[in-house]
Amino acid sequence: MSCQIRVLMMLGMSICLTSIVLAKQGTAVYYYPPYVRESTGCYGYEDQGVMIAGANPTLYDGGRTCGRRYKVRCLGGTNDTPNPCKNGKITVKIVERCDGCGADEINLSKDAFSRIANLKAGRVRVDYTQ
Ligand SMILES: *[C@@H]1O[C@H](CO)[C@@H](O)[C@H](O)[C@H]1NC(C)=O
Repeated sequence: MSCQIRVLMMLGMSICLTSIVLAKQGTAVYYYPPYVRESTGCYGYEDQGVMIAGANPTLYDGGRTCGRRYKVRCLGGTNDTPNPCKNGKITVKIVERCDGCGADEINLSKDAFSRIANLKAGRVRVDYTQ
C-alpha cells in the first residue's frame, strides 16, 4: 500500500473517531410551526427555514451557539411508543434558547424531529454533534 493511501486512511479514521468523541448524548423534544411566532434569541423575526432547533441554556451558551449546525441522530425512545426512531441524521441550525429544555435536551422543529423520529414518541434519546 502506498504511503499516501496510508496517510489518507489514518486521517479518515481520526476524523471519524473525533466525531464519535464529540457527539453528545441527550434527548430531543419538538415544537409545532409557525416557527417564527416571537422574536428568537438569535435572529429576531427572521425566518430561518424549518430545519431549526432551540438549545438548552448550557448548549446555547449565551448565544455563542447561534447559527451552529448540529447533526442529530435518534438513538431510542424514552417511553413505550413502538418504533420511536427513524434511520439517518438531520442537520439543524440553532436559532434560539430553549428554557424549558432539560440538561442535554434540544428542542427540534416538528419538521426536523419527524425525519428522525416518530412524532408520537414525543421525546427521544439522541446524539448530536457539530
Ligand atoms: C420549544 O420551543 C418552542 C418555541 O420556542 C417553545 O414554545 C417550547 O416551549 C419549547 N419547548 C420546551 C420544552 O421548552
